[in-house]
Amino acid sequence: MARDTSLFSGRPSELIGRQVAGYRIEREIGRGGMAVVYRARDLRLDRTVALKLLAPELARNDTFRRRFTHESRAAAAIDHPHIVPVFEAGETDGVLYIAMRYVSGSDLRSLLDRQGPLPPGTVLRIAAQVASALDAAHEHGLVHRDVKPGNILVARGTDSDHPEHVYLTDFGLTKKSLSLTGFTTVGQFVGTLDYVAPEQISGKPVDARCDVYGFGCVVYECLAGHPPFRRDDDMALLWAHQFDEPPPLTEARSDLAPPVDAVFRRALAKNPDHRQDSCLAFVADLRAAMTGGAATAHAPTEVDLRVAGLEKESRAARPPRKPAPDPPKPPPRWAAPVFGR
Ligand SMILES: Nc1ncnc2c1ncn2[C@@H]1O[C@H](COP(=O)(O)OP(=O)(O)O)[C@@H](O)[C@H]1O
Ligand SMILES: [Mg+2]
Repeated sequence: MARDTSLFSGRPSELIGRQVAGYRIEREIGRGGMAVVYRARDLRLDRTVALKLLAPELARNDTFRRRFTHESRAAAAIDHPHIVPVFEAGETDGVLYIAMRYVSGSDLRSLLDRQGPLPPGTVLRIAAQVASALDAAHEHGLVHRDVKPGNILVARGTDSDHPEHVYLTDFGLTKKSLSLTGFTTVGQFVGTLDYVAPEQISGKPVDARCDVYGFGCVVYECLAGHPPFRRDDDMALLWAHQFDEPPPLTEARSDLAPPVDAVFRRALAKNPDHRQDSCLAFVADLRAAMTGGAATAHAPTEVDLRVAGLEKESRAARPPRKPAPDPPKPPPRWAAPVFGR
């Protein structure tokens, strides 16, 4: 066992500068419950990559290994602008690794931790990109199963119309059901239970609709600043996903039109049959609910309208501009841009 522990569980600094499977490790980027991600140099192609080393206990689990190989291949086969390209997946010294494009920027987890609730226009832009990635994966027969802010990487976009470019990562890196992995030997859950679908909890077969649920929880959090269910312990949280109604989003965001509540009720339905058919269908419903209602507390901004594709119509419908009578109020906290200029 000395071989695998030296690669994985040593102090992070011990690996810096070392060569692992043709990659020279430069620095640690982050770690989740089951993996450590490093920025590394691919020595064959002389380029920067993100190198993910999975916890050795995963390599010892045959079911996981099979799925890892199968799903890394499947994910690598999807060429999509919003899915992190996988360059290589393999095993070295008893540790499974995956080399992928290094995405410079942040992940949605840190963005939410830093900024709290995001502006509606930003949420719609980010959600549409993640949804297109998920739907593309589903069309390839892949279910992500672990949609969460930490698996959504946010890079700087191309221009002011596209301020952020979003990538989804980590396909197939969770087990089929929570009963098989995720829990340590002492019954502690590694990772987050904030986005897990009821059918994943009860061990029923999962399909694309479990990603609609997880994605719905992520988008809810982007708008509310917290996930739909907040409980004191893991068991209560698992119970809530299975049996409790999510609190209406408008309780946290009174500036949003009431129809958004129905959109989230549907995405977060306990019965997968009652959810939207796809992630993009959910985003389309959300966009319509956010921009269609007259109940918004503030007039939609130009960015909101542009995101919703409503700019032209609304310009035409708007009366000619008059000088503003009052000086503009400072924007609420959630309206701060994702990337400062
Ligand atoms: N391809 C990548 N490029 C840049 N950073 C990455 C990449 N993949 C993962 N990361 C970063 O590494 C961190 C740890 O990843 P991971 O082990 O999957 O844990 P989690 O997904 O639970 O956050 C992520 O939160 C993310 O910020
Ligand atoms: Mg991850």
